[in-house]
Amino acid sequence: MQNFDWNFQTKLSYGPGRIAEVGKIASGFGKKAFLATYEANATFAPVIDKVVTSLAAAGVEVVVFTEIEPNPRAHTIDKAIELFNAEGCDLVIALGGGSVIDGSKYIAATSFSGGSCWDYVVLGDRVPREYTGAFPIISIPTVAASGSECNAGGVLSNEETKEKSFSRSEYRIPKVAILDPELHATLPDFITNESCIDIFSHLIEHYLSSEADSGFADRQTEGMILNLMDNFDKIQKNPNDLDVRGQLALCSIFGWSGIQGLGRMGSIPMHSIEMPLSAHYDMRHARGMAVVVPPYLEFFSDVRPDRWAQLARRCFGVVEQDDNVAAKLLSVKVTEWFERTGMLIKLSDDGITADKFEEMADDVIRMFAMPGTNTIAGVKPITKEEIIEVFKLAL
Ligand SMILES: [Fe+2]
Repeated sequence: MQNFDWNFQTKLSYGPGRIAEVGKIASGFGKKAFLATYEANATFAPVIDKVVTSLAAAGVEVVVFTEIEPNPRAHTIDKAIELFNAEGCDLVIALGGGSVIDGSKYIAATSFSGGSCWDYVVLGDRVPREYTGAFPIISIPTVAASGSECNAGGVLSNEETKEKSFSRSEYRIPKVAILDPELHATLPDFITNESCIDIFSHLIEHYLSSEADSGFADRQTEGMILNLMDNFDKIQKNPNDLDVRGQLALCSIFGWSGIQGLGRMGSIPMHSIEMPLSAHYDMRHARGMAVVVPPYLEFFSDVRPDRWAQLARRCFGVVEQDDNVAAKLLSVKVTEWFERTGMLIKLSDDGITADKFEEMADDVIRMFAMPGTNTIAGVKPITKEEIIEVFKLAL
């Protein structure tokens, strides 16, 4: 088991209707809030109104910014930063999914520290600029998916360079997350379903990394995977079940909080392989993970068959005792699960061909290769050719 430092810094305020408390909560952190969110539509406009009304009642001024898009763009976030500074805001409220929350983190920390949001993103051998601090963030996730509502990570896209990458900073961990399951019950079914797959992908990234043994992390993760699968079935039958929405919200948060990797912080690079799909085709991140997970599990099953086999046995009902055989059954079982839940997605379903496989694999290597190598970190170093093979299996 590896050494680690870990704490959970975000206060969780859970319950139906708790969004109405945002004003009171915000008044403890600032006087003028920057409300970062998606473009309002008929369903979402009343949610934005609730936040604005609550802030006004608590005497907190607000600047509303509704331009954050899925796969948030650096130029949009820089525009938000300019507005945040011009208005003299001192607090960010992130109302939305992972894209809004990630974008809000860059707004809060870059406004405080200066420069462009893209300066702070990990890109190949470049040493990213370091923040000097951040304005406080309150997250109000409208979907259970990314875990961004309580962690330090944040992903950003650059439309000009067709790059998508990430950074992490403890400065950006939200102070409070308001978990109101009523917000999640308004989601289209396809977003709920894709989001469950994103949560699953987070849970298995550390589990399969195998850099060190941690039975605690294994059992935490297995419990969350089983809970996720149970509640995924339930929410498909009744999208308005708020208790189930609450369970999924917890899977989202703790599936990417670090607790799922205590004592074993390595990860497998499924997210790195998905990033060019979002960058080149503007594919929703969670949908991209549904594309990448089954072929990744199939292609790399022989790298650590003991770990693949353990997951297959403990969470997918495999009874085969030979590790090599059981490992290969993991992708079979996961594929069956995805198919049953309507989440078996191929690149060809989105009209994507092999045209850009080489370019996308080059992007992954360029942005994420270990220093001085042409490979990215995995259980074993992963080459450009192997990334292309994963894309081929995803066709
Ligand atoms: Fe993800």
